[in-house]
Amino acid sequence: MLEEALTRIAAAQDHRALQDVRVAYLGKKGHLTERLKALGALTPDERREAGRALNELKRALEGAFDERVRALDEAVVRAQLEGERVDVTLPGVRTSAGAHHLLTQVTHKLLDVFRSLGYEVVVGPELEDDHHNFTALNFPPEHPARDTQDTFWTTDGRLLRTHTSPVQVRYMREHRPPFRVVVPGKVFRNEAVDATHEAQFHQLEALVVGERVTMADLRGAITAMATALLGSGTRTRLQPTFFPFVEPGAEFAVWWTHPKTGREEWLELGGCGMVHPNVFRAVGYEGVTGFAFGFGIERLAMVTYGVADIRDLYRGDVRVLEQFRGMA
Ligand code: DAH
Repeated sequence: MLEEALTRIAAAQDHRALQDVRVAYLGKKGHLTERLKALGALTPDERREAGRALNELKRALEGAFDERVRALDEAVVRAQLEGERVDVTLPGVRTSAGAHHLLTQVTHKLLDVFRSLGYEVVVGPELEDDHHNFTALNFPPEHPARDTQDTFWTTDGRLLRTHTSPVQVRYMREHRPPFRVVVPGKVFRNEAVDATHEAQFHQLEALVVGERVTMADLRGAITAMATALLGSGTRTRLQPTFFPFVEPGAEFAVWWTHPKTGREEWLELGGCGMVHPNVFRAVGYEGVTGFAFGFGIERLAMVTYGVADIRDLYRGDVRVLEQFRGMA
């Protein structure tokens, strides 16, 4: 009986099967129990002898059951550990976080610079009217300077602004000097699109007005911006040119080392000048002077971060854009 019982105990694959075997031998009607009951029919001498043998058998069985219980418990734990094992060689799970577009990064950087110089950031509408975009900025009707800023017109006679300068007019109408403001924003031109021209792009405009604001202040502001972007000692240059809304007017450049070619050269950034008296007249200002400047953000971003084609900034191809993650 022992042999057979041990075989069945070893074969039990879980606690329930083992319990069935236990009942079959040690239960009320189990094989061993039946034999113990049968002892009563024996003579005292036979009973002592057989009783000892049966007790030994019972102990052996109980020991075998206990051992099997432990083994099954252990197997359960082992299986659980196996199942939960961490494979540290598995590839990680990538979580993709978004990032700011390069143009947004460059804009934020510029705004940080100007905020630190005490400028307020203001914005204006992209859908403008002729008055704010041109006339109040001293572009008289039919003036040839308008031809340089061809744009898109709506059927009700409004237009997509060609520059951020109209916000100068809007701001001055609503505020009294002195003030310093910068205006980031989207602008539009009726352009033949190519690698360096888009029908929409972004500008940053600055306007400072007060009692004795001079050209030296303009130069100082541009140099401060260049220094913040390119490091201390950065040189700037103003060269005379014409814009209807400033007099004198200039284009400004910064002396820098081109990141691609390694050459030192002037980088033309934008236009600037002293606010034209006609512009002040249009907004009802008297007895003040001021300077303004404006430049394209795409161009600054492209030369600084080596973007060869402006269209790459707008195609929305993530493979292109993610190269500039966290750059500016
Ligand atoms: N608005 C001009 C343009 O888009 C750029 C400009 C030139 C802005 C001179 C200014 C300025 O504020 O003073 O071409």
